[in-house]
Amino acid sequence: MKIRAKRKPPTLEVLLLPKTKGLTVLTEMIGAAAGVVPAGLKTAMRTSLAGELVLRALTERRTPGIKYVSGDALLALGEDWYKQIEQITKAEPHLLTKTRLDLEPAAIDGRVTLAIDTGESDRVVGCIVLWELERDQNGHMWYELGTFVVVPDHRYGARGPKAMPIADALYRRVLHAHRTKNILGTTTNIHAIHTGQRHGMQMVSFHALPSEVHLATCICPISKTGTSNNAMCRIKDANCRVRVPHATWTRMGSPTRLPYP
Ligand SMILES: CC(C)(COP(=O)(O)OP(=O)(O)OC[C@H]1O[C@@H](n2cnc3c(N)ncnc32)[C@H](O)[C@@H]1OP(=O)(O)O)[C@@H](O)C(=O)NCCC(=O)NCCS
Repeated sequence: MKIRAKRKPPTLEVLLLPKTKGLTVLTEMIGAAAGVVPAGLKTAMRTSLAGELVLRALTERRTPGIKYVSGDALLALGEDWYKQIEQITKAEPHLLTKTRLDLEPAAIDGRVTLAIDTGESDRVVGCIVLWELERDQNGHMWYELGTFVVVPDHRYGARGPKAMPIADALYRRVLHAHRTKNILGTTTNIHAIHTGQRHGMQMVSFHALPSEVHLATCICPISKTGTSNNAMCRIKDANCRVRVPHATWTRMGSPTRLPYP
């Protein structure tokens, strides 16, 4: 039996490696357009509008047959997807089950993105949602990345014909579409942490968040935190990590970054 070697996430350089001259020139133009020095090219690719679009196109090319829908296209899709997401989230022990009641307002507000397999009668195979969290002291709303899931047979690590980087494509889409929003993602899932890392998420301390936002995101039960006072949570900044997109990190005043595990 053939055993497939574990694939490592490709770095940006690897993605661009079969460098056509045009692509190299394009990345240099993007760096210049972002007004950064060449050493900052990687950051420029992730943070400039043009760079994000190039990366999005490259990622989505690696998920043939998958359609990504949000906003009006999602609302036009019909209603069956609500049930599908409910079933998918119910089957995942680490996810809160999400029903139509939860999902509909977010979908209308353009904060739900689905991955749909067009080769399987438009079956829902992945999802990511930006949930409203809390306003900071300046009145700016913060959002939390959540309901981030790819069905098992379509995960990158799955063995089989449907294994694709759908999680990456979903992540990239949502960060790009909502780049002007303040976003955070908390998780104890190492795969989700690595996905964020591939997309330039900055790992910060929970204590670097605005206090209202910190309080709003730390609502885990005592069984998980070991305390009824979540300020004393023992897994905070240890097993449980908070990351923010580069744009949010910059707006926060570039707080100290913690190393990725
Ligand atoms: C989190 C989740 C969406 C990630 O899906 P996925 O990226 O397809 O990844 P897999 O779980 O198959 O990843 C397994 C391995 O494949 C490899 N991999 C994944 N995407 C890759 C990519 N684009 N390029 C190269 N390697 C990749 C990595 O080695 C990864 O292991 P690592 O994360 O330790 O580095 C998926 O695991 C899931 O739905 N989990 C259940 C729900 C959940 O817990 N969600 C997170 C809540 S915060």
